[in-house]
Amino acid sequence: MKSRGYQAWLTEERWKNTARIETVRPLLGVVSASVNPEQAVGAAAIEEMVNGITSFTGIHPDVTVTSGPALMVIGAKEKAESVVQELNMYTLKEEGYVIRSSRGQSSPFVVLFGGSEKGLLYAVFHFLRLLGTEAELENLNIAQTPRNALRMINQWDNMDGSVERGYSGGSIFYRENRVLLESSRIRDYARLLASVGINAIAVNNVNVHHEETRLITDAYLPDVAKLADLFGRYGIRLFLSVNYAAPMELGDLSTADPLDEGVQQWWRDKASEIYRRIPDFGGFLVKADSENRPGPFTYGRDHADGANMLADALAHWGGLVLWRCFVYDCHQDWRDRQMDRARAAYDHFRPLDGRFRDNVILQIKNGPMDFQVREPVSPLFGAMEHTNQMMEFQIAQEYTGQQRDVCFLVSQWKQAMDFDTCLKGPGSTVKRIASGELHSYRYSGVTGVSNIGDDDNWTGHPLAQANLYGFGRLAWDPDLTAEEIASEWSKLTFTSEGRVAAMVTELLLESYSVYESYTAPLGVGWMVQPHYHYAVDVDGYEYSKWGTYHFADCYGIGVDRTISTGTGYTSQYAPVNRERYESLEKCPDELVLFFHHVPYTHVLHSGKTVIQHIYDTHFEGVERVEAWVHRWQELKNEVDSERYEQIAERLGWQENNAKQWRDVINTYFYRKSGISDARGRRIY
Ligand code: GCU
Repeated sequence: MKSRGYQAWLTEERWKNTARIETVRPLLGVVSASVNPEQAVGAAAIEEMVNGITSFTGIHPDVTVTSGPALMVIGAKEKAESVVQELNMYTLKEEGYVIRSSRGQSSPFVVLFGGSEKGLLYAVFHFLRLLGTEAELENLNIAQTPRNALRMINQWDNMDGSVERGYSGGSIFYRENRVLLESSRIRDYARLLASVGINAIAVNNVNVHHEETRLITDAYLPDVAKLADLFGRYGIRLFLSVNYAAPMELGDLSTADPLDEGVQQWWRDKASEIYRRIPDFGGFLVKADSENRPGPFTYGRDHADGANMLADALAHWGGLVLWRCFVYDCHQDWRDRQMDRARAAYDHFRPLDGRFRDNVILQIKNGPMDFQVREPVSPLFGAMEHTNQMMEFQIAQEYTGQQRDVCFLVSQWKQAMDFDTCLKGPGSTVKRIASGELHSYRYSGVTGVSNIGDDDNWTGHPLAQANLYGFGRLAWDPDLTAEEIASEWSKLTFTSEGRVAAMVTELLLESYSVYESYTAPLGVGWMVQPHYHYAVDVDGYEYSKWGTYHFADCYGIGVDRTISTGTGYTSQYAPVNRERYESLEKCPDELVLFFHHVPYTHVLHSGKTVIQHIYDTHFEGVERVEAWVHRWQELKNEVDSERYEQIAERLGWQENNAKQWRDVINTYFYRKSGISDARGRRIY
């Protein structure tokens, strides 16, 4: 029996409301499907529908399957005939779908029509969401296509079974250099991902070390092909992270120079070997010349040379190269205080615009640094009109509470998606760049670093599941609000009945600002324990020793990134944003220390001084977490004990963490600034 946590939002729990079951019985008793029998995705769609109906209601529908266009009719098939005829005239995009239902109570029906079997699968999951959230089923007229073509997940899993920045156990994919094909977990993960519209996955860590380098060899390709089949059944294309120096590390060549013909041939041969086994293989994800990973710089080549060589090898097969832009400045001296890490991606990549092949996509982290709780949007995003781009978010909560603390990241991602880069005038939002609308990219989308592991409930903290769910939903439709996503997830996961879903929704929606309030203030970031990246250590972050991360002294705090007196980073934005960030008066409070070095007595737009803001938010953060602890206790009898206890335990951890941050931060800045809390609260 799957535990409640394992089921996640694809709950198998029977409705308690038996009257509702009786109401839907006439509708859900019959499923008539038509699919292309050669498409495994069609079979998955039917299976999900039937299992979903049975789980919620106990009804075992009569199922008929014929061969034909991707279509499903639930309920009275004859009555649905005219709707079916009409929908058959439509041409939908491959992943799009339409759902229509009858008006009256008598002979009810629902028609689900997909642009392909994939579209039908998404329609089925949409319909199951309606069932799971107790939505109205009459009079439906829904038409959906995903806004982003690529909606991808990156696993940072290693073959020894560990997960880089994993906070929920070991890998579900690998253990002791074996691929874990025998377990049903990978299939269930594929189901979870497909249910929120994910259509691509890279199944190994971007830091590709020795054993993972061999994933593209005979030793592992047969297993990788099986993984590709598992995901393929749910419409998810498989990618691999590759080691740029693979031709050397696998012992075949003495160079990995992208302009060397032998190297080019090696990768061409490698690509055909992979595609022979995995015809719908997605392509390569590459982290090169970053954090000691090999890359083209060794040979005096640049990122375009490096990416294009791989792109040429894959082009024949329709494969893509996802080239990451997470680079520090490799050319300059770290200890040079003028050198600003935030500048690096733009400085390296922007001059290369137009030089990349059209099957290369640059994968750019949402902020210029590294997944901090608050960063501005990366200025590189959208700044290369002639180069495909996709945005990378981190679903894993590396710097945002490590799945011990609740931090609903959809709130953060929404702000990034809605940010107006103004690169082509007002309305040049990030979501329009990711979707390929602003610059008409051939390929684009969003990708997220996964937060799952082999913990029974996938994510360690049960509420961290909401981030995985929310990432997929937002990738599908960036116009959904954080409120809609939080409420949908909470109802699916805790049922609509009772008070739990409403309380969880509120908690999720507060959580991003609560987490921000008791951690590093006003966009300055970091202040975490080195390497671990959880828990407070003001000067601790491993690169802080070079002194570039907060510049706090007795006079003030923050990083001057202005053109006039600082690192010049603000110059990387289009004029409107450049001026906003350059000016201390206009810079939004939440980013003021990211862009400016200010005295502690600087008055924010909120009317508070910086030092008072720091004190107050750190006190308030703790108080808000304490309030959650009490509110959760009130729900004890309304949640299964498994999830009740897990959440209660973690809220307790979060309370301790918040207190520790409060005490350390407030004491640190009291000592630094010599200014005490004007409200007379005790500085610890
Ligand atoms: C962060 C993270 C690393 C990771 C890197 C990346 O720096 O701490 O573990 O490898 O990001 O995105 O490549």
